[in-house]
Amino acid sequence: MAALTPAVAVAVIGAGTMGAGIAQVAAAAGHPVLLYDADAAAVAKAVERIAGSLARAVDKGRLSPDERDAALARIEPSHSLDAVAPAGLVIEAIVEDFEAKLRLLETLEIFVHADAVLASNTSSLSITALAARLKHPERVVGMHFFNPAPVMALVEVVRGLASAPEVVETVRATAEAWGKTAVVCRSTPGFVVNRIARPFYGEALRALAEGATDAPTIDAIMREAGGFRMGPFELIDLIGLDVNLAVSQSIHAAFFGDPRYTPSLLQREMVEAGRLGRKTGRGFYDHSPEAGSLAPKIAASAPPPRRITVEGDLGIAAPLLERWREGGIEINRRWGEGVIRIGDARLALTDGRGATLWSELLQAPVVLFDLAFDFARCPRIALAPAEQASKRDLAQAVGLMQAAGMAVSVLDDLPGMLVMRTVAMLANEAAEVVHTGVASAEAADQAMRLGVNYPQGPLAWAEAIGLGRVCDVLDHLARTYGEDRYRASWLLRRKALAKQTFHG
Ligand code: NAI
Repeated sequence: MAALTPAVAVAVIGAGTMGAGIAQVAAAAGHPVLLYDADAAAVAKAVERIAGSLARAVDKGRLSPDERDAALARIEPSHSLDAVAPAGLVIEAIVEDFEAKLRLLETLEIFVHADAVLASNTSSLSITALAARLKHPERVVGMHFFNPAPVMALVEVVRGLASAPEVVETVRATAEAWGKTAVVCRSTPGFVVNRIARPFYGEALRALAEGATDAPTIDAIMREAGGFRMGPFELIDLIGLDVNLAVSQSIHAAFFGDPRYTPSLLQREMVEAGRLGRKTGRGFYDHSPEAGSLAPKIAASAPPPRRITVEGDLGIAAPLLERWREGGIEINRRWGEGVIRIGDARLALTDGRGATLWSELLQAPVVLFDLAFDFARCPRIALAPAEQASKRDLAQAVGLMQAAGMAVSVLDDLPGMLVMRTVAMLANEAAEVVHTGVASAEAADQAMRLGVNYPQGPLAWAEAIGLGRVCDVLDHLARTYGEDRYRASWLLRRKALAKQTFHG
């Protein structure tokens, strides 16, 4: 089925942060927009905000003054709910409260046309449960925009159990016609983005709780080695520790307490202390005007080894060889298992086992390095030394990485380190999403790139690392911690065993 034509009126209920943004998107796409809020002042404020946002688009040359005027003229403030009756699509963006949303949808059913679509911008409530209490559940879908709606390219189109396929398709096509990328998914807790993203926060919080290093260093590693736009703690401070914890708790509860989603005690304590992030001036960082910025830890400069021996294939880390050569390191090659010898010490990419365990197995001092998004260019890398490694063993590894032009941050011996363990867990969650028919592999990857700006979709990233290695990381983490949290998705393992890919 095709998208709604621009002649069809769109109603937006709730003129807060999201409602204002959605109204702007629909009006810019040419629809008459009916904007309603229980608080009339909120509508006036939203129209002001939309005018400001459109004016900025004109300043940036993205919109002509005529287009701005036309878009603004299409937005009609509604002073009562029944005024939205002519709408062919109603998008509700009111408070995130099941009963409030249900009452609103029940009332809307009385006013709107029989063929009008009812969409909810809820980020956590079940579309199936909301629809079930209505007379016509088949016309209810989720239309989950991301904040700020005019900027973010992604819309999750959420299919409830009773949603009619043609309604889902109309909403998908309409979102695309509005310039968005629409990803269709089943109504399951967290939908796609908020669910797959849990380990991005969860693993960093665990690393911090275990004392692997401090928050600024974790953020720097995730940005400069992991290629993520923001570090997890900077992002949680921006979102609000309470809001982020509430999402984690709601997904954990919705999955019947599955340990994969267990929230962080450390985060809860900070919420209890009122350290909610930017909005209270303090979260993982101190945001008060007098506070300086906290620098990530960087290893002191160390002399590089003159030569190293690279045993076997370094896999995804192979671009390091060229950087070392350019840094004047002499490289000998021989057969082996992807391990680098520097004198007596061994350097290797983490596989989810701690460096101390590797040392025990190899009967040699080991220093592990973390995954990077782009080993050819990353400006930072993390190292984790085994208990058995001497200061000299670590200094040599540090010097080697520095010779390749990277800043080095040293972690405590954290199994799976930071980027590797996070990416393995993101991919595992994405694999479960695919396995249980929530969304396709393409949709899951696309959603994470567009919804939260990940540098690569988790499944494509796992393929680049090697699905077998990602399963190893998870298996080793599961064994090390003895926790079900790290159990590998059967679909991920199946693909790894069969040497297949998600995208092939
Ligand atoms: P908000 O608090 O900025 O705006 C909500 C608006 O709804 C307020 O203006 C309020 O007066 C109005 N409202 C409340 N109950 C109403 C009712 N019964 N009838 C009419 N208007 C009513 O909230 P925000 O952030 O815009 O969130 C709205 C919805 O969008 C929620 O479901 C939220 O989970 C979802 N969402 C929020 C995102 C965000 O980043 N803020 C991102 C994606 C979804």
